[in-house]
Amino acid sequence: MDRKPIMAANWKMHFVTSEAESFVKDFLAGLDGQEALDIVIAPPYTLLPSLGSLLADTPVDLAAQNLHWETHGAYTGEVSAGMLKDMGCKYVIVGHSERRQYFGENNQNVNRKIQAALSEGLLPILCVGEVLDERKNERTLAVVQKQVKEALQGVDKEGAEKLVIAYEPVWAIGTGETATPEQAQEVHLAIRNILSEIYDEPLAAATRIQYGGSVKPANVCALMGQPDIDGALVGGASLKADSFTRLVKFEK
Ligand code: PGA
Repeated sequence: MDRKPIMAANWKMHFVTSEAESFVKDFLAGLDGQEALDIVIAPPYTLLPSLGSLLADTPVDLAAQNLHWETHGAYTGEVSAGMLKDMGCKYVIVGHSERRQYFGENNQNVNRKIQAALSEGLLPILCVGEVLDERKNERTLAVVQKQVKEALQGVDKEGAEKLVIAYEPVWAIGTGETATPEQAQEVHLAIRNILSEIYDEPLAAATRIQYGGSVKPANVCALMGQPDIDGALVGGASLKADSFTRLVKFEK
């Protein structure tokens, strides 16, 4: 099954306009236009308007890091799928472990967010992953499959076809510790199996599953060498143009 790789930069809460502009200038200059993959940048909300114009007509797509599930209303501090669409976003990250850990997100509100994103035509990047204790107790596959199942409750096949999944073991995020390619592959395959159970085998085989958690140029090739790893969601190593350029070129 030919799945187009997808490399995404998750900038988290980093960068003001001048920093983002200089990143984009350097990053675009380093691309040769031959990259046979999808490239995505997810800046903080404040940078969506400027990045929306800087990235228009480039091979780089814009993503948001979060959204609210309602379309509008009295939800101070929140941003809807329609507003993200209005900024030129193509993707939106949903259920990142930092949102689950610090902002009370659970599989139920992740599910509502997925539905809201899909109803506006945004492509969700659904993040799942186990914490260290769950891995130690050999509950990784069960936890991750449950996260996928509950996040996709009531999502029809047409919606699920739009989905990207990011497997991000929580113990590997920002820690410098990466899952081994084999550990990641085992979970990616389990995710594909649950998709096949919920939908069907062709959908499971077509869905792109990224790995995330301390991905850097030094380890990207080994991870991408696994049959079920289709790209990466990158935090720390996406904050330097040079390093993200090497990542999208799969260069050490
Ligand atoms: P990291 O973050 O690459 O800094 O580990 C990944 C993520 O949180 O998406």
